Amino acid sequence: MAAKILLIALLALASSHAIMASDPSQLQDFCVADNKSNVFVNGLVCKNMMDVKAEDFFFGGLNPGNPSAKLGSVVNLVNVDKIPGLNTLGISLARIDFAPFGLNPPHIHPRGTEILTVLEGELYVGFVTSNINGVGNKLFTKVLKKGDVFVFPQGLIHFQFNKGHANAVAIAGLSSQNPGVITIANAVFGSKPPISDDVLAKAFQVDQKTVDWLQAHVGYNSSYETYIDILMAAKILLLVLLALASSHAIMASDPSQLQDFCVADKDSKVLVNGFVCKNPMDVKAEDFFASGLDMPGNTNKLGSNVTAVNINKIAGLNTLGISLARIDFAPFGLNPPHTHPRATEILTVLEGELYVGFVTSNINGGGNKLFTKILKKGDVFVFPEGLIHFQMNKGHTNAVAIAALSSQNPGVVTIANAVFGSRPPISDDVLAKAFQVDKKTVDWLQAQFWMDNNN
Ligand SMILES: *[C@@H]1O[C@H](CO)[C@@H](O)[C@H](O)[C@H]1NC(C)=O
Ligand SMILES: *[C@@H]1O[C@H](CO)[C@@H](O)[C@H](O)[C@H]1NC(C)=O
Ligand SMILES: *[C@@H]1O[C@H](CO)[C@@H](O)[C@H](O)[C@H]1NC(C)=O
Repeated sequence: MAAKILLIALLALASSHAIMASDPSQLQDFCVADNKSNVFVNGLVCKNMMDVKAEDFFFGGLNPGNPSAKLGSVVNLVNVDKIPGLNTLGISLARIDFAPFGLNPPHIHPRGTEILTVLEGELYVGFVTSNINGVGNKLFTKVLKKGDVFVFPQGLIHFQFNKGHANAVAIAGLSSQNPGVITIANAVFGSKPPISDDVLAKAFQVDQKTVDWLQAHVGYNSSYETYIDILMAAKILLLVLLALASSHAIMASDPSQLQDFCVADKDSKVLVNGFVCKNPMDVKAEDFFASGLDMPGNTNKLGSNVTAVNINKIAGLNTLGISLARIDFAPFGLNPPHTHPRATEILTVLEGELYVGFVTSNINGGGNKLFTKILKKGDVFVFPEGLIHFQMNKGHTNAVAIAALSSQNPGVVTIANAVFGSRPPISDDVLAKAFQVDKKTVDWLQAQFWMDNNN
């Protein structure tokens, strides 16, 4: 069995190198998107340099938006679709307007870290960490006043809430030309087609009726709006420049390799992005090795168990941008909706049959599209970086899969746990509004024991 798994792991390794996703790095001054080209690349094809104009770097409509009636907020995203010159530059911007008590509901940017500045009013903001072994999902919150700045790290669930009686306005810089947005409530309960209520009832520990009700009620209109006002545009341009300057310093990615290897020195007291390297003379074969992946994990209440083999288990993975997991499923077991904030996943079924799926980020006006597939033994499926996905064993026998992930430390955000089980809990004002249920339902959900199936 071990030999078989090793072979599959090697295959997965070979194929996942080709799919490491990031904003393309620049190889020239600029590469203004050519909207006439019908060639598809990662990002967009460049326009002829001779045809580039100042207008390609300009957007003139970042004015007050009309907050939606239900949530009381509106996001005007200025990404590569609005400014073609942003192509390959790894940055974009959003203006967020809040009515009194307006909420920008819990959401994720699969491809961007966000740095937010409050222009007017006061905001209560927060983000939830990915599942920390044994500790769960930690919530960090802060009340922001005019002029305050806050950072939401890439791929983590976050929200902003106007707790005041006046309007509020914020500007956010995002470290991608196309950061994407996944509004949790919409992506989970409002995808098209809907995620099977088997999957959601188990993941959120509610009955199927509750899921059906949520699916019928979530899915409000969160389209982006723009208006024109020249003075405001000038004011905002200044802030954009500030946001640009500060967000360049925080562009996040697995560090690229500058040598053969950089085995993590876990004893070093020096903290860096990843780990400091061990002296190469002290490196041993054991640093690249882990064992036991032939042993099935003990499945929990959800009927699954994920055994991750990441930088915590193999010190040699440091800077190499890859890791692996074994996933065991009991009959009807579920690996519930989750995201990996820092990795694409490529999964192979070793035994049994799995029903798998992922949901796209919010597509302007088009909602969240669900892609699903039944996988048989030997089948392979890809879950793109940062998107919500799940796997369910629909059969009467156990199932086993091996997944390779394009980060030494991909992280896991289990949606139900991060939203309803964070410590401290997210305010029930925020959740009641985001999921459009009453506070009693939120309190009941928050009182459940949110089980983690990750190791
Ligand atoms: C392409 O961009 C130009 C200039 O920005 C604009 O006038 C035109 O409408 C765009 N065409 C399409 C098909 O989006
Ligand atoms: C959302 O709002 C936009 C603009 O206000 C409108 O064109 C669109 O039809 C609405 N979509 C839905 C699903 O209501
Ligand atoms: C997964 O299985 C392993 C091995 O049996 C066990 O030690 C671990 O506690 C299980 N993890 C969870 C989260 O249930």
